[in-house]
Amino acid sequence: MIIKQAENFILSTARTSYVLGVNKEGVLEHMHYGGKVSEPKRDDDDTFRCMQEKVSHMKGNTICYTKDSLFQPEDQLLEISSLGKGDYREPFIIIEYADGSKTSDFVYSDSKVLETPVFMKTLPSSYSEKEGDSETLLITLKEKEKDVYLDLYYTVYPECDVITRRAVVRNASKEKIKLLKLMSLQLDLDDTGYKMVSFGGAWAREMHISETLIDHASVINSTNCGVSSSRSNPFVMIAKEKTNEYSGDGYGFNLVYSGNHYESACVNGFFKTRILQGINSEGFAWILDSNEEFETPESVMTFSSDGYRGISLNMQRFVKKHIVRGKYKYEKRPILLNSWEACYFDISESKLLSLAKKGKEAGIELFVMDDGWFKGRNNDTSSLGDWVVDEKKLPRGVESLAGKVHDLGLDFGIWVEPEMVNEDSDLYRAHPEYAMTIPGRENALGRNQMILDLTNPQVVEYVKNAMRHVFSIKGINYVKWDMNRTFTDVYSKVLDATRQGEAMHRYYIGLYDIMKTLTSEFPDILFEGCASGGNRFDLGILSYFPQIWASDDTDASERTDIQTGYSYGYPMSTVTAHVSACPNHQTLRVTPIETRFNIASFGVLGYELNLNEVTGEEFEKVKAQIETYKEWRDVFFGGDFYRVEDDQWMVVSPDKKKAVTVVWNKLCAPNAFYKKIRTVGLDENTDYHVFNVQLKHNIKQFGGLINQVSPIHIKQDSFVQNTIARFYKMNGEVEDYIVSGTTLNNAGLKLTQAFGGTGYNDDTRLFQDFASRMYFIEAIN
Ligand code: DGJ
Repeated sequence: MIIKQAENFILSTARTSYVLGVNKEGVLEHMHYGGKVSEPKRDDDDTFRCMQEKVSHMKGNTICYTKDSLFQPEDQLLEISSLGKGDYREPFIIIEYADGSKTSDFVYSDSKVLETPVFMKTLPSSYSEKEGDSETLLITLKEKEKDVYLDLYYTVYPECDVITRRAVVRNASKEKIKLLKLMSLQLDLDDTGYKMVSFGGAWAREMHISETLIDHASVINSTNCGVSSSRSNPFVMIAKEKTNEYSGDGYGFNLVYSGNHYESACVNGFFKTRILQGINSEGFAWILDSNEEFETPESVMTFSSDGYRGISLNMQRFVKKHIVRGKYKYEKRPILLNSWEACYFDISESKLLSLAKKGKEAGIELFVMDDGWFKGRNNDTSSLGDWVVDEKKLPRGVESLAGKVHDLGLDFGIWVEPEMVNEDSDLYRAHPEYAMTIPGRENALGRNQMILDLTNPQVVEYVKNAMRHVFSIKGINYVKWDMNRTFTDVYSKVLDATRQGEAMHRYYIGLYDIMKTLTSEFPDILFEGCASGGNRFDLGILSYFPQIWASDDTDASERTDIQTGYSYGYPMSTVTAHVSACPNHQTLRVTPIETRFNIASFGVLGYELNLNEVTGEEFEKVKAQIETYKEWRDVFFGGDFYRVEDDQWMVVSPDKKKAVTVVWNKLCAPNAFYKKIRTVGLDENTDYHVFNVQLKHNIKQFGGLINQVSPIHIKQDSFVQNTIARFYKMNGEVEDYIVSGTTLNNAGLKLTQAFGGTGYNDDTRLFQDFASRMYFIEAIN
């Protein structure tokens, strides 16, 4: 809800309020963002006066805004801030005018409330699911001396406790202006004692959480490598120092953008904290001719006083409802089998078909042919750009393969990397100018490849046509859209020298144009984003592709950290996760097949291993896993996700009738028998059936210890041991309870005793290194 009273505004969601107003100098001041405030109802109500900062004297050596004013910008909460008028904190906007000056002074001009969100012209943005589930406030500021306008958009999504912000600069003057910096969001808080919680890492180590206290030196989370990046994801939280998972005040911020982003927080000398988010201005400059405008990406913000958990729930619900769109938004995602870790580049029709056939037998629904299918692509040194089939590998073409996969009863998917070109490719030989390089300078390669210059409309058309051609092949149901290098040598050959600061952002305008065109031309294809795993996991990509390959690291233990990281800002229905072979290809770690499944199924489940080479016993387990997942898929996919403890996740269906929880071990300790699990989010007035699927343990797990109970001596890895192991399994523990939601939420459930080195029977929970257990919870009628 948006309330306007005089020139003050209250933006309200279910549990939060954002308050701003125009001061007597015409400057837009921020008053409050946090828990709810009430709407002024009486004529003598002092709601706004109560929230306005009182100033009756000049302070220290601050600057007064004008000679008759006591307004001192350095010590005020502002909605936006610029250079040159006495606010020495980091600015929201920097413009260089034709005379070379960089001072700007934006004052209130106009405002209106818009019923529907206004879509952007060049970038993706959040959207209303149904009429009336959002409202937008548009405030227009005007530069005091120049005909330059700054439009501030605030879109309120009451149900999710989310407000989004973005800005548009319009040059109505007769002169060119140069935009050196324009953020999407500035939030000034009137206190200190915050920390920035950010999520970074590297390839195969995405989304590792870190916390930094915010003081007078800026804390910055940003990327300049041209992608939103695994180095630092654009999702951050700014929370009170004492805020934790379960309680305390905090804000979450994210940007609907896939390029260079910037989030900063800093405390000034007057104990006020400023937060900024937007395009990273390093290397950025945008010239606006007369009557041109520039729009920033949309920044998404939420507030919760329920700790990180509250922030996460708001963000997850928002992304599900107002970012992800298209046919697959709420539709169940197929369980796929991907060829990459099974075959890498070494594919052929017969190999793929035999893999697909085995997949079908296991219950797989979609078979994906990953990299290696196009002309001459035998390793990563060639062929990107040449999107025609490699006839040596697939002599009858992709269509024939897709047909045969369909005949097996599976959907068919394909891998592409449309934004790239290899030097060794027909495309590069014909059009070297399509690659993003700087004339006269040797360019750097990443994975032996160059990036196509999407600032060039001709290249944009080429990519659209090349992909149209691939996606039109009969039988394509799914596309994995990969992007495997970061940017260097950023330069646009179609822009003149003065406009090179626009190149990086124009690349994304080109990319979003391609994505929008192709996703609307092929609405039935399920698209999955990927960038060497999670190097471009962001809300920009999710506005077109409903799911993203979260990491090339498929190790289940590593994945607990990575998927936990994503869960702070993203719903698990966007995070894809695969069960892969052991020893794992990234860590060489061996984890139980149960754990690989238990962790992957909390994301969008897939498999990525050679099912023809797993043991018969493992294959049977895979079959059973897939069956279980199908039964519980709605809960995994549509439920609310909770981080319960450092070693436990839980997902609860929106109606609270079904839930699943998983608990895992990193390294086990002897003589540590006891474990209690807690639940979150169950209905306290409902009784539930809690149960596990009983495991059957291989006696080989016990090594020589088995001789303590065996009548004959069994040598490890001997024929005898292998034969017994094939025919005899040891029963795992059974957990089965009927208990109320109140008890489960408040007292928890004490599990059977773990193996701790002193004995074993059917009631022992064998919880060795990297073991895990999944518990299913169902309401009783
Ligand atoms: C990087 C991706 O993250 C992998 O899953 C795989 O598709 C390879 N690229 C293929 O080259």
